[in-house]
Amino acid sequence: MAKEFKRHLITSALPYANGPVHIGHLAGVYVPADIYARYLRLKGEEVLFIGGSDEHGVPITIKAKQNGCTPQDVVDKYHTIIKDSFKELGISFDVYSRTSSKTHHKTASDFFKKLYTDGKFIEKESEQYFDTEANTFLADRYITGTCPKCGAEGAYGDQCEKCGSTLSPDELINPKSAISGSEPIKKTTKHWYLPLDQYEGWLKEWILDGHKEWKTNVYGQCKSWIDGGLQPRAVSRDLDWGVPVPVEGAEGKVLYVWFDAPIGYISNTIEICPNDWEKWWKSEDTKMVHFIGKDNIVFHCIVFPSMLKAYGDGFILPENVPANEFLNLEGDKISTSRNWAVWLHEYLVDFPGQQDVLRYVLCANAPETKDNDFTWKDFQTRNNSELVAIYGNFVNRAVVLTHKYFEGKVPALGNIQDVDKEVLDQIPTIKKNLEYNLNNYKFREALKEAMNLARLGNKYLTETEPWKLAKTDMERVATILNISLQLCANLAIAFEPFLPFSSAKLVNILNIEKISWNDFGGGDILKEGHQLNPAQLLFAKIEDETIDAQIKKLNDTKAANEAKAAEAAGKPAPLAQKEECTFDDFMKMDIRTATVLEAVKVPKTDKLLQLTIDTGIDTRTIVSGIAEHYTPEEMVGKQICILANLAPRKIKGIESKGMILMAKDESGKMKFVTPAEIVDNGACVG
Ligand code: 2FM
Ligand code: ZN
Repeated sequence: MAKEFKRHLITSALPYANGPVHIGHLAGVYVPADIYARYLRLKGEEVLFIGGSDEHGVPITIKAKQNGCTPQDVVDKYHTIIKDSFKELGISFDVYSRTSSKTHHKTASDFFKKLYTDGKFIEKESEQYFDTEANTFLADRYITGTCPKCGAEGAYGDQCEKCGSTLSPDELINPKSAISGSEPIKKTTKHWYLPLDQYEGWLKEWILDGHKEWKTNVYGQCKSWIDGGLQPRAVSRDLDWGVPVPVEGAEGKVLYVWFDAPIGYISNTIEICPNDWEKWWKSEDTKMVHFIGKDNIVFHCIVFPSMLKAYGDGFILPENVPANEFLNLEGDKISTSRNWAVWLHEYLVDFPGQQDVLRYVLCANAPETKDNDFTWKDFQTRNNSELVAIYGNFVNRAVVLTHKYFEGKVPALGNIQDVDKEVLDQIPTIKKNLEYNLNNYKFREALKEAMNLARLGNKYLTETEPWKLAKTDMERVATILNISLQLCANLAIAFEPFLPFSSAKLVNILNIEKISWNDFGGGDILKEGHQLNPAQLLFAKIEDETIDAQIKKLNDTKAANEAKAAEAAGKPAPLAQKEECTFDDFMKMDIRTATVLEAVKVPKTDKLLQLTIDTGIDTRTIVSGIAEHYTPEEMVGKQICILANLAPRKIKGIESKGMILMAKDESGKMKFVTPAEIVDNGACVG
């Protein structure tokens, strides 16, 4: 028997306030966490859902340097953008605070002091990289180099973004300062370390023996960390941005961001429940669940629990850490620095009122067991073929028909036939499946079950055809519509955790006060005679133009990135794609194979060759600007491709009929385009 808990503390990773959030963050952490919180609240459970911005650490100070402003400016800007956009997406945090708050600084500082006083740290001097030009130690991302694991350039002192390995600065090959670009020296500095090795036995017992039910990816990572042997971890850094280390002789040192950030969950609880925060953190009746991405597993499963264990005083540990894998975008890794992302705040502007579509697609496609891909085409299909065609369509048909035949009043349930019973019997089964999946963090499956309920409704209406029966048997129509409306009410409940905006709309259409998970499963939520509000569409079709505009935005980003990369490599940038042409435009062009019969230089020019060409339909002259790239001898006998129906032009007094197709290589040299194998002259290309 699973343990029963009185309350649920749900935490979601605190995003760095060095940029807005994107769909990868949402699919990995915030959408599942919100679904879970909403589900438990709907069941009447006591829930506290914690969010907030992570405002310390090198990512913030690097951004400030790039932007020529202070770290405080950076976090003020992004904290507001992130907080507002989460709210608009309906992420129902009970608190969304920030780690630069006074409460957090005090909580984190006190936490450190207690561990320090209790002798839980090792104090150690060591040699660390130092930038003599910038006169500063180079913590974490301030040092870059070649990854020792995968050989990628630009790996950071704490992590390689290419292969995902966790690194320490000493492992980097050819380390360089990210501040000045100079080669760093080694200099002695003192830091405090949490001796994780001392917690190894306890972690083994707690996770490896005690939490075999955790997701395979999470359990596997923990096992490989623990089996690999844990090392003491520094919990302070030589930086001037963060929570100052609260002991004497620690000037110029702050708490390591990964020491203070998880304490942010506690600080934010204190902020919202100053008087009874301890019931959330120090009671065995509280179930704590951390929602995070896979790159945060070690900190939430190994480091933070060891900190809590070291602190003692009854702090509870997470019951589960359902970390997700990563979401890619159109087949490529999401990247802030390459602007390869769909940013939430931009989505909200481009798709006003369509929050649930994004929530739906990100959950339906969530990277729960492996990395997954978001594509705009899939987004459109899921909206048009699932939300609009299944869920929206069913609800609309049921409500419109009720208005048409019964003045919008829930009609009476008459005699039940087999087809009705089958539908009614399936509702509790679907509820059970939904609950099983939600309780086990399988949100994709849960969402599928909710959609199955709508599918059931559509099938029921299609099979029973009340619009035909309306001519002969209004009593039967009443029963069918009563059952259909009960299905609608069940749908409003089933979908609430996933699609809260649509559920609110549906609740309004059904004119019901409040929904509760306990009502889900019943066939009599709406009483006979209950008046409905007018029908309203739950979802709108998304047209091709809207999707094409988003794809164009990404293509522009790709082109800009390629141009930047080419510039960095000293190559000419590939030209941007030309304006779109229609199929008819293309069909107008007569491109065909031809062979060069003769070639001579055009007198008094450097660039022009006069070519006699066999086009398969005639022998003609084409003047081409390729003399700098090919000699006349090189051209004779070559099979090439030409645009045959280009309007004739006079060049240096010679009539040229057509154009030779050429491609420019990186060095600017022109190469004629030739078929892979010799074909007859005059073969059409296209
Ligand atoms: O990876 C990140 O974005 C971190 N800012 C997550 C921190 S989670 C918690 F510990 F606060
Ligand atoms: Zn690597």
